[in-house]
Amino acid sequence: MATGRAVMKAVRVFEFGGPEVLKLQSDVSLPVPKAKQVLIKVHACGINPVETYIRNGTYPRKPALPYTPGSDVAGVIEAVGDHVTTFKTGDRVFTFHTISGGYAEYTIASVDTVFPLSDKLDFKQGAAIGIPYFTAFHSLFQKGDAKAGETLLVHGASGGVGIAVCQIARAYGLKVLGTAGTEEGINLVLKNGAHKVFNHRKKDYLVQIKETTGDQGINIIIEMLANVNLASDLLLLTQGGRVMVVGSRGPIEIDPRETMAKESSIRGVSLNAASQEELGECAASILAGIEAGWLKPAIGPEYPLKKATEAHRDIIHSQGALGKMVLVIH
Ligand SMILES: NC(=O)c1ccc[n+]([C@@H]2O[C@H](COP(=O)([O-])OP(=O)(O)OC[C@H]3O[C@@H](n4cnc5c(N)ncnc54)[C@H](OP(=O)(O)O)[C@@H]3O)[C@@H](O)[C@H]2O)c1
Repeated sequence: MATGRAVMKAVRVFEFGGPEVLKLQSDVSLPVPKAKQVLIKVHACGINPVETYIRNGTYPRKPALPYTPGSDVAGVIEAVGDHVTTFKTGDRVFTFHTISGGYAEYTIASVDTVFPLSDKLDFKQGAAIGIPYFTAFHSLFQKGDAKAGETLLVHGASGGVGIAVCQIARAYGLKVLGTAGTEEGINLVLKNGAHKVFNHRKKDYLVQIKETTGDQGINIIIEMLANVNLASDLLLLTQGGRVMVVGSRGPIEIDPRETMAKESSIRGVSLNAASQEELGECAASILAGIEAGWLKPAIGPEYPLKKATEAHRDIIHSQGALGKMVLVIH
């Protein structure tokens, strides 16, 4: 083994349940890359809300137990399997999909999900790209049909996906409105591409949004909490407007009539459902954004591997998101 080690530290889940089922172990076998796979020494791993749903056992997709959570990793190639020609030991990389789990010192990924990490970004930023930026591009353009000049509302702009949507939409020429729940969150969103930001914890913020858009309304809403906002989103849309449901944590009652006169639509989004071709297009846009300099993930709270439990509690019971939450490992 290239590392000279047979075991590593990794977080393991042996049963579905609360954050306390995340167990840090120091004797987990180091994974070995097969053909067209690479072994990555993990420097940082992004934490996504979906990892808490999977851990709970309430998500439709359930991994076989035990497993290590985590998909968005940045690090350095430690070893390559057979038939890997695109990467070599020592390359800085990021991925949006690990095979053996990212909350670990080392992880395995398939080469077609691994990308070079530019020197413009550090490892924490590299770990913040995966699910957030791929979801942002997928929801805006591949499902939402966003166009330059349109008005966008990023409903929940201060977290991992929200900041990604703001940066991408601004770079592609949309008018970007966002929401956040704290002053710090509002300032962060303003620094990351939004033209104007509203506080979704204030009672009158929907009125303020309507005053800002006037008769024009909003063309596209990227919605992070549809179970709270979907009914009022329909009232903010313009003719032919669309709500893209990226996040939802429960049911909500809506009046379908609100979609009729405007011929507006509500569309669900799932990165898991994206085709290989769509993922390739997302990756090309993301790499171009990094090269051009406008794609720069904003990093929020950082946790060591041993505090993964705390991180899972905090991402769900957040006092106010401030960019992307990450585990820092090496
Ligand atoms: N469909 C997919 O493929 C896909 C992919 C990735 C993520 N998601 C989902 O998308 C959601 C966001 O993910 P994330 O990684 O950005 O999470 P995150 O970093 O935890 O951010 C959560 C965001 O939701 C905002 N929020 C809180 N209360 C809100 C409200 N009443 N109205 C609107 N926004 C509100 C937060 O704002 P404050 O904290 O400032 O209040 C923050 O901006 C999650 O539910 C996640 O599971 C779905």
